[in-house]
Amino acid sequence: ARPRDLAGRRVVVSAGGTREAIDPVRFIGNSSSGKQGVALARAAVARGADVVLVGANLAQPPSGVGTFVPVVSTAELRDAVRAAAQEADAVVMAAAVADFRPVHVPDAKIKKVAGQAPAPIELVENPDILRELATERLRPGQVVVGFAAETGDADGDVLTHGRAKARRKGADLVVVNAVGAGKAFGTDENDVTIVDGAGEVVETAAGSKELVADVVWDAVLKRLAR
Ligand code: C5P
Repeated sequence: ARPRDLAGRRVVVSAGGTREAIDPVRFIGNSSSGKQGVALARAAVARGADVVLVGANLAQPPSGVGTFVPVVSTAELRDAVRAAAQEADAVVMAAAVADFRPVHVPDAKIKKVAGQAPAPIELVENPDILRELATERLRPGQVVVGFAAETGDADGDVLTHGRAKARRKGADLVVVNAVGAGKAFGTDENDVTIVDGAGEVVETAAGSKELVADVVWDAVLKRLAR
């Protein structure tokens, strides 16, 4: 049995991937399964926390996650997370949030016109929810945690990108994981490095998403105790 070391704590977790409408039937989305976020919510419930899970487009409503708030778009996710965060000791942003959304969303389906080039889709940047939470601290002493799903590329490795992200976002902790080519998204395993706001490594964990969830909460708990 796990210790009920999060008893009396209120936490918010976001999970899944947001969708931005292009027209009434089409969207820009991503392939986040929501499994790591759901595992985080379940682990927190098991450890005694009062949990709100804000789930974006999860395949099915999850059980054992506390209060479940389903959302679709980034705007909805932002509203739900911010509302729950007013009372929260910790917020963990595990959701894959769309960085951009279409500027105009027509009421009717976009039609293909023979012989005509497709109209470009103009995009605008979404608010960075994690950075807002880290900057505003809706509740004093609140621990703010982000995820950095990195593919790694010629500019540097996964951890280098993750560390830069941690500093840029101002979060207390960032969970860095490698994605792409069968890694992380949709799988039951995860391999993560947790860095602090300065980009220093505080923990590493590899194994099931349940195991990773417990390591994340351990790291959160250490910060809450300070
Ligand atoms: O910048 P990037 O999308 O890679 O950052 C990932 C982290 O930031 C995740 O924790 C994600 O939930 C969060 N995020 C956010 N709002 C956005 C984009 C990302 O909260 N618009």
